[in-house]
Amino acid sequence: MDAPVNAEPATAPTSGLAATIAREIARRRTFAIISHPDAGKTTLTERILRAGGAIQMAGNVRAKGERRRTRSDWMGIERDRGISVVTSVMTFEYGGCIFNLLDTPGHEDFSEDTYRTLTAVDAAVMVIDAAKGIEDRTRKLFEICRLRDIPIVTFINKMDREAQDPFTLLDEISSALALDTAPATWPVGRAAQFVGTYDLRARSLHVSTPLEQSDPRMVQLAEDLELAEAALPVFDRDSFNAGHLTPVFFGSAMKEIGVTDLLDALVAFGPPPRDQATESRTVRADETGLTALVFKIQANMDPNHRDRMAFARICSGRLERGMRLKHVRIGKQFALHTPQFFFARDRQLAEEAFAGDVVGIPNHGTLRIGDTLTEGEDLRFTGVPHFAPEILRRVRLDDAMKAKKLRQALTELAEEGVVQLFRPQDGAPPIVGVVGTLQLDVLQARLSGEYGVAIGFESTPYNLARWVTGDRAKLETFAMANRSAMADDLDGDPVFLAGSAFMMRRTAEMNLDLSFHDIKQIGIETR
Ligand code: G4P
Repeated sequence: MDAPVNAEPATAPTSGLAATIAREIARRRTFAIISHPDAGKTTLTERILRAGGAIQMAGNVRAKGERRRTRSDWMGIERDRGISVVTSVMTFEYGGCIFNLLDTPGHEDFSEDTYRTLTAVDAAVMVIDAAKGIEDRTRKLFEICRLRDIPIVTFINKMDREAQDPFTLLDEISSALALDTAPATWPVGRAAQFVGTYDLRARSLHVSTPLEQSDPRMVQLAEDLELAEAALPVFDRDSFNAGHLTPVFFGSAMKEIGVTDLLDALVAFGPPPRDQATESRTVRADETGLTALVFKIQANMDPNHRDRMAFARICSGRLERGMRLKHVRIGKQFALHTPQFFFARDRQLAEEAFAGDVVGIPNHGTLRIGDTLTEGEDLRFTGVPHFAPEILRRVRLDDAMKAKKLRQALTELAEEGVVQLFRPQDGAPPIVGVVGTLQLDVLQARLSGEYGVAIGFESTPYNLARWVTGDRAKLETFAMANRSAMADDLDGDPVFLAGSAFMMRRTAEMNLDLSFHDIKQIGIETR
């Protein structure tokens, strides 16, 4: 194992706020688990939480169904579909570190939400099914991580079943993802004979029962190691931190083999909270002034309290309950009375939090995705984008009396990021935009369940939306000439709607002095 987690550089202050912050952030580990459905994310999460003492279970209880009910029974659609639609945060302590595990939605429709969650983590654990190797969804999620250079730790799961050869798997990961793979552990035995792992860095054997050197599994291990050490890259921390190399662990979440190898590695080489870019400067995690970034909004988490929760990642400084914060986008101060920590469905007041931690801030809609909170400095974090939706639908209201309620509900749900909302400039009914159709089901279910508004969807002549930027006068002329295809997004930024990629391209070619964007950075003025 590497140097102790709490080791500080010789020059670090030994007392006061700066020292407390340095000590606390050195032991924060904020990460997400990414995988293709069925690779074992849920099982691994359970085992990790259990290793961290966060959940107590008698024997080998399959808690998936149980947890779904307890965690998410406020949302019928999730229960019905058996998918995890919301993101939750789970905090636990292990090996002297405080881990914040951010759960990413499992369904591929939710790439936008997933992307935002990944903006709030410092590392990702990529779970791969040992028989299947790299699958579609893994690849997509990996690409999102790569966009942000998020360090990846790989866990090859289900080694207790028929699996591909470890060398083949390592080779597949490095060629499919263009990523160096350094085995951190090596499997001892295969399939039903899989009994544990060999730690290549510590050179120690982790097996449940001692094995003779003559045991075929030990013989194979010795042969494999010789080849692995000669042919495969060794772990390099800088390369890992830069997102170029992934340490690979072998295991079985179900049999609880290799899970502590993984956690011990996260304790040993982290990474701790990263520095975060703003429009004007980079905020270092060890700065003493508090900064936080809102990356997720969740309304109506508890049907008994119609509250709205902003999930904020602390990027620097120390959060203390009761402190006054500046909400930079609207330029107002507010007192932080009830910041909260989450454990799945349980909440508790957060008295103190440091970089890497995620707190929930109850509010009535003043906080939005991408918002920055500081102790006074005018900073705006970047990197939380909106993606141009791929599906556009007009909302059809069944009961005309509820038009006002619908307007408010759509605004709230759009602020939460459930859908994107476009208001046509010619006054036509609103259009919602989504990246995947499941979002439409979620919108419909939530409008009826939480707001009592029944809606349907109608097709629109549009298939593409692009944010338009450029000189104000030119933009106005363009908007006048294309009135029926222009809409305003939630922030009032102009969007051009096109019926086809061909139309879009033609419009762009005919208006070279304007720019058409398929990604909008939240918090950045586009005009
Ligand atoms: P996911 O969240 O990534 O979708 O996967 P999940 O953990 O739900 O696991 C998918 C299936 O794979 C489950 O079986 C689970 O028990 C099994 N599994 C997970 N890890 C391992 C492992 O290390 N070894 C083996 N052999 N199986 C593993 P299921 O039959 O779909 O569900 P259940 O009947 O067990 O609830």
